[in-house]
Amino acid sequence: MAPSHPTDRFAGDGLRPRRRHDSPSRRHADLGFGIGLRTGHYAEILAHGSRADWFEAISENFMVPGGRPLDVLQRIRADFPVVLHGVSLSIGGSDPIDPQYLAALRALIERFEPAWVSDHLCWTSADAHQLHDLLPLPWTEELLDHLVPRIARVQDALRRPIVLENVSSYLTYAHSTMTEWEFLAALVARTGCDLLLDVNNVHVSAFNHGFDARRYVDAIPAEHVAQIHLAGHADHGTHLLDTHDAAIVDAVWELYRYTIARLGPVATLVEWDGEVPPLEVVEQEAMRARAVAAGAPKECTAAERDARDAAAP
Ligand SMILES: [Fe+2]
Repeated sequence: MAPSHPTDRFAGDGLRPRRRHDSPSRRHADLGFGIGLRTGHYAEILAHGSRADWFEAISENFMVPGGRPLDVLQRIRADFPVVLHGVSLSIGGSDPIDPQYLAALRALIERFEPAWVSDHLCWTSADAHQLHDLLPLPWTEELLDHLVPRIARVQDALRRPIVLENVSSYLTYAHSTMTEWEFLAALVARTGCDLLLDVNNVHVSAFNHGFDARRYVDAIPAEHVAQIHLAGHADHGTHLLDTHDAAIVDAVWELYRYTIARLGPVATLVEWDGEVPPLEVVEQEAMRARAVAAGAPKECTAAERDARDAAAP
């Protein structure tokens, strides 16, 4: 059976996917509502297609010389937009950026023509040892100075802006001199990179560190947001843990609604990595995202809100 969602094929003009919604201020196509590509769903997607509009593939899973994963991605890519999402770039680390990793990623880009390529704003290695965790960074001018040439090196090698995701965190650094959202805005201004805004991670970190999640969203440069992530987490009472093994909670849906109202339509993806349920359950979360986004108020900028508030009696 043919895939059930054939409308989001690439336009055939190189790397530019067809836009679902044109937004004069946005740098990225709104791909609609997607899900993370997971091995347990391969067979069903290949056989029956998917209600999802697009897929996000973990880059490292496809950095192999051949075999089933590459074949599956090739077949899915024929019918759906795909983005590549990495977990081991370690852009914030002190190890040199691995040229072999960049070459492998570049080869994937040339083969699959992803709408964009993302990784995480974190560090994941030390002394060439992969730590297999997305570790938080201090928000300092010194880190900005460290990141600017590293991001330039990545963007030069990949010949496109890198899209960086905010990670959830469970500690902060005493020597941070700015907030995370101030750091993100400064990073975008200095490097031209783009952002993957994980709304669940904002909610988790806001709870863990006691900041206002809406204030974070307000400060994000809207035109640089390529994508949104949604996922489930675990509530341990004293802290929230970003587990990706459950349904999205109501508070995150509400923050997502607020984010879409603030940013306008943004390609949105549901992540589910542990206790992965049947494909239709993950698809259902993506369809809920579609409904929530459709119900969000029209885009309202901070300046427009200020003007409206000033005019109010
Ligand atoms: Fe995420």
